[in-house]
Amino acid sequence: MSKVKKAIIPAAGLGTRFLPATKTVPKEMLTIVDAPIIFYVVEEAVKAGIEDIVLIAGRGKHSIEDFFDTSYELEDRLAKEGKSHLLDRLAHIRSMANIISIRQKQALGLGHAVLSGLPVVGKEPFAVLLGDEITMGFRGEPNVTAQLVSSFNETETSTIAIMEVLEKDVSKYGIADVEEVKPGFFKVNSLIEKPKPHQTKSRWALPGRYVFDSEIMNLLKNATPSLNGEIQLTDSMKVLCESRGLNAMTFKANRYDAGD
Ligand code: UTP
Repeated sequence: MSKVKKAIIPAAGLGTRFLPATKTVPKEMLTIVDAPIIFYVVEEAVKAGIEDIVLIAGRGKHSIEDFFDTSYELEDRLAKEGKSHLLDRLAHIRSMANIISIRQKQALGLGHAVLSGLPVVGKEPFAVLLGDEITMGFRGEPNVTAQLVSSFNETETSTIAIMEVLEKDVSKYGIADVEEVKPGFFKVNSLIEKPKPHQTKSRWALPGRYVFDSEIMNLLKNATPSLNGEIQLTDSMKVLCESRGLNAMTFKANRYDAGD
């Protein structure tokens, strides 16, 4: 049985890159086909066997919580009009997972957002899925989070997804310096957040899917903010590499971020 039953979805960032679109609509609520990005992220977690989802939301993000909640007036109208297919769809979204919402009172960085989930995850291992990126597993294949969960269950070591990017794009991501252990599976030696291309030779970027054991929470609790005042997740992951160890794996799936 999988040990990873909880996931944290940080969705409290300010979304400055997509202004003005994200001034009133959180970027996690931008729509793809007929559902917001966050729906596909929650769906990925659920398909990976996650039961409890900790949504880290911030000011102006209540529409994300509302999306997974009951809308009595709307549902009553759909029932009266006999629109059962729509009613069923809304009921499915609501019952997909146990959604626990935690407010990050200030956008103090991704590390701080993950740490805000501590009261729910406690000492259990957990997945992190960034709320502004979606990955689509190939038909019939496990999705990225499911691939990470399988690896964690086998190795009992925190595992992150990595993907190769072009040199010009390294400054957009956390970048991992890795050592290949077997095809597609790596040991992480170090990490650097959004480096300039000359600061790293590595082209292995972090696309925003992770599975951690509880040690990362201990490291985040003691982390010092970086120069911009944010608690960076990559800083604590760097310490994790030197203590308990950190694995990385490539994945078979398409990945898009909100900007795409
Ligand atoms: P980003 O750095 O991409 O999000 O964080 P941002 O801060 O919203 O983006 P820009 O640069 O201003 O456009 C990745 C994920 O982490 C969340 C974001 O909501 C996003 O899903 N996040 C980031 C938090 O939850 N809290 C934070 O303090 C920072």
